[in-house]
Amino acid sequence: MTEIQNTESTIPTEQSQVEETLTANVLRSFEDCQDPRLKQLMQGLVKHLHAFIRDVRLTEEEWNKAIEFLTAVGHITDDRRQEFILLSDVLGASMQTINVNNAAYKDATEATVFGPFFVDDAPEIPIGGDIAGGAPGQPCWVEGTVTDTDGNPVPNARIEVWEADEDGFYDVQYTDDRVAGRAHLFSDQDGQYSFWGLTPTPYPIPHDGPVGQLLEATGRSPMRASHLHFMVTAPECRTLVTHIFVTGDELLKYDTVFGVKQSLVKDFVEQPAGTPTPDGRALGDATWAKARFDIVLAPAGT
Ligand code: BEZ
Ligand code: FE
Repeated sequence: MTEIQNTESTIPTEQSQVEETLTANVLRSFEDCQDPRLKQLMQGLVKHLHAFIRDVRLTEEEWNKAIEFLTAVGHITDDRRQEFILLSDVLGASMQTINVNNAAYKDATEATVFGPFFVDDAPEIPIGGDIAGGAPGQPCWVEGTVTDTDGNPVPNARIEVWEADEDGFYDVQYTDDRVAGRAHLFSDQDGQYSFWGLTPTPYPIPHDGPVGQLLEATGRSPMRASHLHFMVTAPECRTLVTHIFVTGDELLKYDTVFGVKQSLVKDFVEQPAGTPTPDGRALGDATWAKARFDIVLAPAGT
């Protein structure tokens, strides 16, 4: 493999001074910014961006290519497709922002990426209801509790759940306006909840655009580890955006958006055909699975 050298250390002092002077001038141009946070953000961005350009000795051709790439990301983005978020996801920027903003608090459940497939007005189902809406896949009973970090049940927490079908597509990726594989429900007075979903299966993030080309060019896979999304909201609690992953999934180590956290990996235990279901649902000769996810919400403002 050809080793590409960082040449910064071999740059003549005069050249270095030219480059440093420019960075200092640009930093100074934000000095009078009246909004202190905006000033901090812009000066931090310039500092790191200039350091990157100097560090890799960016060529003009590469700079042009980067502009073309970002232009393509903009062109493919519309109301249904957000390629910038996808780019942020595959660069680990989404996950790092989540890490920075969701510091560990006692035993609160960890957060992970939101992804582009959440829909605001998913149907409400009762506890024990089915989110599948006809989506194909192995039925999976999911149950658990919602508690606060002192162990008290959180009744009436709003639990949004969404997932891809067994073919690896979310309902919004089909063109027929179906609503499937998503719903919301509320925890009961003891903080308990349960629903029927589908056993999660792995799927690729949308990779037919510039982000897909970037993954291809860099030898990276577009696959996400199998998962089931949750967003949980309750008064006086920090909103939790997370998913659960499947024990034993080979993709756990390679999730292309770096969303996997060990605490979120759960056993999805397959039940042989004919095993009685928790709510008496008749599944004929189909197998089904069972998973438990106890959700702990941090206090708001933590
Ligand atoms: C998802 O899990 O739905 C997702 C997350 C990041 C990028 C693409 C998809
Ligand atoms: Fe997803």
